[in-house]
Amino acid sequence: MKNLLLTTFLLIGGVSALAGRGSKSALALIAARSSEAHPLHATDPITIWCSPDNPQVQMTKATLTRVADNKVFELEMNPTKKNATYTFGSPSVKDAGEYKCELETPHGKLVHKVYIYSRPIVHSHEHFTEHEGHEFHLESAGYTIEKGESVTLTCPVTGYPKPVVKWTKNGSPLALSKSVSMEGTSIIISNANYTEAGTYSCEALNEYTVNGKTSKMLLVIDKMVDVRSEFQWVYPLAVILITLFLLAVIIIFCEWRNKRTASKI
Ligand SMILES: *[C@@H]1O[C@H](CO)[C@@H](O)[C@H](O)[C@H]1NC(C)=O
Ligand SMILES: *[C@@H]1O[C@H](CO)[C@@H](O)[C@H](O)[C@H]1NC(C)=O
Repeated sequence: MKNLLLTTFLLIGGVSALAGRGSKSALALIAARSSEAHPLHATDPITIWCSPDNPQVQMTKATLTRVADNKVFELEMNPTKKNATYTFGSPSVKDAGEYKCELETPHGKLVHKVYIYSRPIVHSHEHFTEHEGHEFHLESAGYTIEKGESVTLTCPVTGYPKPVVKWTKNGSPLALSKSVSMEGTSIIISNANYTEAGTYSCEALNEYTVNGKTSKMLLVIDKMVDVRSEFQWVYPLAVILITLFLLAVIIIFCEWRNKRTASKI
């Protein structure tokens, strides 16, 4: 009797604690530039798998849902009905995120979360070049503004988990001031003075653990800001005016000499 009670308890306990197991994978990325029109693809396929924690339990049905957009993928059940898989042949950065496996078993339904991680990458139409050939250190064309003008520096990064963004200026932590403020992950430079010129770098960092190995992944984007005098336009104008003036002097001088030579004859 005691044994029966214990067995019943274990069974119920086992059922109520119906849990799952599943994969955690990371996209294999060798570049950092992606956009809506041209999403970056990983170099290797990714196979997501889910199974009941208890190796005795077989599944009757298995579905996979991407949490971000509720897209449903057909999981393929293996012959033992104890494991279900889905393979992304050429996963892109759009496939990174959280997925939900819903596994139906004779003992009830279980839900298990699985993940595809992505290191921080740029997601933008802006043009970036690699800094000294480093794929994960990019630089933008930069900005030239006049003294007193404003500019917004964005950090268009994506990744899963969502990267944490930090800004530096000329290699030191960025000090906010009346002219330099932060809005979300962007920097706003307003009423710029010459001291606001420099290289602003956005550092995007995320971290994930796959197969017991924790990776900290960094992406750096440099944006150079040049502040010029608001009277910059005066200089080319002055050069043109001086040239015109000299030309006029030369013409007048030549005319005068011609007239003198003519009057002598
Ligand atoms: C399920 O299948 C995948 C892919 O074949 C494999 O990597 C994984 O270890 C399997 N999981 C279990 C619990 O057998
Ligand atoms: C701008 O910088 C110059 C020196 O570079 C300084 O003399 C001036 O006061 C500054 N102007 C403002 C508005 O901060």
